[in-house]
Amino acid sequence: MKTILTGLRSNSMFTIGNYLGALLPMVRLAEKHSKDSHFNLFVPDLHSIISEVDGGDLQANIMRNIKFYLAAGLPLNENVHVYRQSHVSAHSEICWILNCTATMGELNRMTQYKDKSDGKSSVNVGIFDYPVLMAGDILLYDAEYVPVGEDQFQHIELTRNIAMRFNNKYGEVFKLPATTADQVKFMGLTEGVRIRDLQNPEKKMSKSTAAENSKIMLDDDPAKAAKKIMSATTDSLGKIKFDMWGQPGISNLLQIEAMVTDTPLQDVISTWAGETRYGDLKKKVASSVQQMLEEFQGKLAEISDDEVYSILETGEKYANEVANKKLYEVQKAVGLR
Ligand code: TYM
Repeated sequence: MKTILTGLRSNSMFTIGNYLGALLPMVRLAEKHSKDSHFNLFVPDLHSIISEVDGGDLQANIMRNIKFYLAAGLPLNENVHVYRQSHVSAHSEICWILNCTATMGELNRMTQYKDKSDGKSSVNVGIFDYPVLMAGDILLYDAEYVPVGEDQFQHIELTRNIAMRFNNKYGEVFKLPATTADQVKFMGLTEGVRIRDLQNPEKKMSKSTAAENSKIMLDDDPAKAAKKIMSATTDSLGKIKFDMWGQPGISNLLQIEAMVTDTPLQDVISTWAGETRYGDLKKKVASSVQQMLEEFQGKLAEISDDEVYSILETGEKYANEVANKKLYEVQKAVGLR
């Protein structure tokens, strides 16, 4: 059976960028394939502490975000596994071993590292090393597909490189995740997802952006979120066309509409081709986002802490079994066992 795996850091609230880039694709794939594939949706809580934790309460953030996984519609069956990274110690152990295969040069080239360290006088080692921990998260489970937003593609390619180098030196221990081009195809997309900042659509939507109108958070009041869409920056060209470089604001709205309504992007583009009234497009997207948030928040209210703990108990038992087996293979390959 294939393994499909992803994780979302839980040091803060999710934006709809996180939701549409990773969570929803994972849930939709699980709806389709979880009879014949394993789906690992985990909380990379060790990754969460590379930066500030909202409100200083990591446990509260973790609990809330696991509830988000469930509210997004994750089907719960014996092939779907939810776990916390820090509760599977093999993640930390394999990270060290992979650190001895990864190089400073390749980690230095990671754009996420450059962005996160830009302008800071002191940067913690975790920020530098987090792609190696991420590689371990993937390789421990032989994951083939890793639904992530486009900003994480470089880390998937890095994972492939580390695994290849390790296999060349120590033997065929790791299964390589699919190339990002194949991942995109598997998700039924034509390109990686990058939801843009509503006010500055050249940039990705990010939870760390200060301007409230730039981002939609999953706990936003749905009517207020609709207003944010209505005030999104567009352009003065007066034609609705998908062109991320020339018309990033309009293209962002088309992409959000496609993902929220689970419609192929090409169909949404065709529906609006030749239209000129940006207000009409905004109204449609605003109403789709509002409806999505209403449904999501409604489901969220029904999930109890007990349900989460019970899912974690089975998920972490499974994850420890699989990860420890792989870790042992790795330890043997390098001569530690
Ligand atoms: P993180 O927590 O920063 O983001 C979680 C997921 O959200 C996606 N994302 C977006 N997608 C589209 N448009 C956006 N504007 C946008 N903003 C965020 C991210 O691409 C990501 O998929 N290192 C990872 C977490 C991680 C992980 C892993 C993921 C740790 N180990 C193993 C997959 C497999 C991270 O920091 O994502």
